Amino acid sequence: MIQKIKGTIDVLPDETPLYRMIESVMREEAKNYGFGEIRTPTFENTELFERGVGDTTDVVQKEMYTFVDRDENRRISLRPEGTASVVRALLEHGCQSDPMPLKYFYLINCFRHEAPQAGRSREFFQFGAELFGAEGAAADATMIALASSVFRRLGLKGLTLHLNSIGCKNCRGGYRSALVDYFGARREELCDTCKTRLEKNPLRLLDCKSPICNSIAKGAPKTIDFLCPDCKAHFDALTRLLDGMGIRYVIDPAIVRGLDYYTRTVFEFIADGIGAQSTVCGGGRYDGLVEELGGAPMPAIGFAMGITRVILALRAQGIEEPKPAAPRLYIAALGEKASEAAAVITERLRQTGAFVECDLVGRSLKAQMKYANKIGADYTLILGDNELESRRAFLRDMKNSTQTEVELDTFTLP
Ligand code: HAM
Repeated sequence: MIQKIKGTIDVLPDETPLYRMIESVMREEAKNYGFGEIRTPTFENTELFERGVGDTTDVVQKEMYTFVDRDENRRISLRPEGTASVVRALLEHGCQSDPMPLKYFYLINCFRHEAPQAGRSREFFQFGAELFGAEGAAADATMIALASSVFRRLGLKGLTLHLNSIGCKNCRGGYRSALVDYFGARREELCDTCKTRLEKNPLRLLDCKSPICNSIAKGAPKTIDFLCPDCKAHFDALTRLLDGMGIRYVIDPAIVRGLDYYTRTVFEFIADGIGAQSTVCGGGRYDGLVEELGGAPMPAIGFAMGITRVILALRAQGIEEPKPAAPRLYIAALGEKASEAAAVITERLRQTGAFVECDLVGRSLKAQMKYANKIGADYTLILGDNELESRRAFLRDMKNSTQTEVELDTFTLP
């Protein structure tokens, strides 16, 4: 038997109502904050992610699904995230000349070849939002408020917002040399990838997943101690705004994010009680990415949340899951003629927009009634020879056990 690829997920119909509920809260909140939905391709030129996400990141170096296209020998990658594609699309469609700010949201699948575990899969689902063209801290606060609002509407508790600033180009120089001094002193202990990163991009040593690098990284210098006056003022303005909005946070110098494009504000929402993969949402400012991908310089900030992790967190706190919809009516039939009539009436009622079911598998009348009960039909109707002859039958309200006589060819559901 063929099985699904390791690290992928099947969502069966008894679980989809929970996904749909979560996605509809996300869509609705995005709409209230003025974000329009954007859809971009599942695969892109590999170079987009190498330049966008960064060619020394774990995501690009170790986790991308990359293949060579049949016709043109291009290197193509399944998207490991959504931000780079959104920037590519806005540049490709000339949106930089639209009135600012630009606000987009997306619900997408992403692909990363990571070791699967609870909350970590190789195909996963994200809700993300990106805001372009606003450099002030109010934009940062708005994005964090949107993410918080989604969590509040979902009733997700036990989340902590971890906030940090990793500075801009101006603060990077000093910070970079501090990192090189710190990690350089322990070079021999680092993994091979990190030895190269030490020369190319020392910031990436801070989120290496190898246990030794990870433990060395814990004592590394903190970005927050190297901020230039402008970055410091931006961060202070953001914390004032969050205080004013009543959004609680902890300042956590360990949050540096795993992707290269971030500048200044970075943040993660971390959930209690869902195991090691506890970051349900991550994001930050990326003021250099639009220019890096060929556009005029444009400030930007965004985030993405992992839908599977949101589900894990909701389940860990024991939420009541939405159930699949129950039919309004089940038409039970006795005999072949009545079964045919049931199929025809079912179709007529479905055309009125009602959820109606009848037997398709040849159950006995008794078994049909049992099944109608099991699937929770609001009404039932029994068709036999008498009903076919008179073209009338009793519509039974299953909750109140009352019944009303109806005309088979014209009745609609109350
Ligand atoms: P990220 O931190 O790589 O950021 O991913 C965002 C979220 O996606 C994570 O916090 C997590 O909830 C979920 N996630 C990531 N990898 C997996 C996985 N293998 N399995 C399950 N869930 C996962 C980004 O993707 C950025 N594009 C976010 C962003 C948007 N920054 C600015 N704008």
